[in-house]
Amino acid sequence: MLDAEKFIEEQIEKISEIDGKAVVGCSGGVDSTVATVIAGKAMGDRLLALYVDTGYMRKNETDKIDDILEHMGINHKVIDAKDEFYEAMGGVVDPEEKRKIIGNKFIEVFERYAEEFDADHLVQGTIAPDWIESGDEERDTIKSHHNVGGLPEKMNLKLIEPLRDLYKDEVRKVARELGLPTSEKQPFPGPGLAIRVIGEATPEKTEIVREACAITEEEIDKAVENGEIERPWQYFAVLLPVKTVGVQGDKRAYGHTVAVRAVQSLDAMSASFSKISSEVLERISTRITNKMKDKVNRVVYDVTNKPPGTIEWE
Ligand code: XMP
Repeated sequence: MLDAEKFIEEQIEKISEIDGKAVVGCSGGVDSTVATVIAGKAMGDRLLALYVDTGYMRKNETDKIDDILEHMGINHKVIDAKDEFYEAMGGVVDPEEKRKIIGNKFIEVFERYAEEFDADHLVQGTIAPDWIESGDEERDTIKSHHNVGGLPEKMNLKLIEPLRDLYKDEVRKVARELGLPTSEKQPFPGPGLAIRVIGEATPEKTEIVREACAITEEEIDKAVENGEIERPWQYFAVLLPVKTVGVQGDKRAYGHTVAVRAVQSLDAMSASFSKISSEVLERISTRITNKMKDKVNRVVYDVTNKPPGTIEWE
């Protein structure tokens, strides 16, 4: 059993002995936030946390992360890179190409700010399952490393990985000990909402899926709190590249289709669709179509397991 308090103290002590400056990419996920806060407590202003708003973040996510880092006293910068990302994604429909463009753009933006800060270390929220599979078991908590996580080799940053011996449940325990509200967050893919807009992820379509995801999350969270359903492992909405006919008042409408996805899983390798009650599904559908009356007139529920489907649609 991990003693979270002791773990935090030990890591802070270890990291505070490191000379120089460090940057950390804080996505707002549990792992990167915990690593950021521990490193921040150890290094103070010698750490700069970078949060890149790609434009494909969840509703209110950027403000939430900003608040958490502010509250924790972490030296941080919220980088508004929305326009840059939207421009790079213009006209791109292939899922793999979308992922690649986002990954590369992220590195480009991150690198720009890291260089400006003159950092010689990079903090990462790597946890045990991330490296065990690669068989690299001899690594120490703090070690020299190049070309990490797709970051260009010329950055030549030494790596600090305070969570590398922990498993997800232990990271959540540390997050709770640190008082982080992100401790129970569901997974969110690196490319963000861009892969939840099927086809070209335009700013307009991204707004629709952002709202649909927020409603899906809120309604499912409420249903879980009321004891109506078991909490799914992951739950979100997808905007399909399909328009269908509907009625709005007494007029014909022609609007977008949203798919709601909720799955149970242990490790994301396989998953089964959540058997959510039709009452909850109805509330999600009604709220989405009411909120975006002129845009969305059809909501469907994905009843596919993984395999043969994947959890995300792209
Ligand atoms: P799939 O769709 O492959 O997803 O069944 C499995 C889990 O991984 C998440 N996911 C990602 N996470 N970067 C990430 O950090 C990514 O590019 C990415 N793509 C998918 C997905 O949300 C699910 O939890």
